[in-house]
Amino acid sequence: MLPGGYGRSTYYTGQPSPYAVRGEGYKVWDDRGHELIDANNNFTSLIHGNAHPAITEAAFTALSSGASWGIPNLYEWELAELLLGRLPHLDQVRFTNSGTEAVMSAIRIARASTGRERVVVTKGGYHGTSDVALVPGGPSYTRGVPRGVIEDVTPVPLNDSTALRRAIESEPDAYAAIILDLLPNRAGLLRITEEFVQTARDLATKHGVVLIIDEVISIRLGLNGFSGEYGVEADLLTTGKTIGGGFAVGAVVGLEALMAEVDPTRTGSLPHGGTFSGNPVSMAAGAVALRLYPETEIQRLNELGDGARRSVNDRVASAGWEIRGSGSLLRAVPSGAEKVAEDVQHRLWWESYKRGLLGSPANLLSLSTPMDAAVVDDIADRLADAVLAVAHDAPRG
Ligand SMILES: Cc1ncc(COP(=O)(O)O)c(C=O)c1O
Repeated sequence: MLPGGYGRSTYYTGQPSPYAVRGEGYKVWDDRGHELIDANNNFTSLIHGNAHPAITEAAFTALSSGASWGIPNLYEWELAELLLGRLPHLDQVRFTNSGTEAVMSAIRIARASTGRERVVVTKGGYHGTSDVALVPGGPSYTRGVPRGVIEDVTPVPLNDSTALRRAIESEPDAYAAIILDLLPNRAGLLRITEEFVQTARDLATKHGVVLIIDEVISIRLGLNGFSGEYGVEADLLTTGKTIGGGFAVGAVVGLEALMAEVDPTRTGSLPHGGTFSGNPVSMAAGAVALRLYPETEIQRLNELGDGARRSVNDRVASAGWEIRGSGSLLRAVPSGAEKVAEDVQHRLWWESYKRGLLGSPANLLSLSTPMDAAVVDDIADRLADAVLAVAHDAPRG
């Protein structure tokens, strides 16, 4: 009934996947009788793990007053206020149902406000599944994407400031936006250098290009998002996952002058809808999730992640693997790899699964607040064992 047997292609792990039947805290149980440590967290969304009581209660309360309405609701204000409190240089928010939609809307706002069409992305980056966002993935991702869309997107190699400068300065009046993910998972969870980010900021300012920072995943890494850790200010910031408390969500957060593009009280404003955008359940759950994730919790999780990364790296380095990431996000990859072969990713997924550890199919692991040091040590042990099992089979992937 479902293509390939899956409701989302991103579930795919090379062999028929187990089905989740229940989750609680940092644990998930599947239909094969396995109890798993959930470090997948629905692709990093569940910052407070599964079925957190306060989030569940907030969602129930909102739901019992009506799941969604066709007039605005006050929960939107609450989440907007919390989000803007964390991103003080930005002025306004529009909610969407997913990160994909947030990025799609941000690009349209940038294009409309600049009157330009071209967009720079980093090669291998992932920004959801809208047509533009698929281009950095290369030809295997762009079947079905119109040629004109592909031609309007310029992928530059990650951290190559010269290529970025050359792209923008060759046609400064053609570029509407530069889109950056500061910790791109699809590109092997390699960190963007401060120099590259600063180059992007400077070029954007100089040439009137909109700097979009995509924090759909990375917002969890700092109180002011990961861009706060870099000290860089986006013109538009896209986010999602964490800010919905586990419910469908996305958001474009931006400078007032840009967000005015979607202000319906202005003549000729851009259409932005979404029957379920800003729905009370996602908004209420998201507000509790953010309140329960203050600076102290962010730092605690980040330190646990740093410790796990060091400890697993010590054990797997001689086998030709490394653990990348930042703070509470970790990923095992063959040392130095920019792109990890899908079959290697899948082998590691299954070796982890056999050891009771659940990651994303690309083995992105995220920590959640129900985890303490003992749980994270346990994750590190299981991950190191799984990596060594794969390395033993194929030392360099
Ligand atoms: C950086 C980034 N942008 C956008 C998206 C798309 O978000 P969603 O899956 O909510 O559509 C993702 C999803 O993983 C992402 O990692």
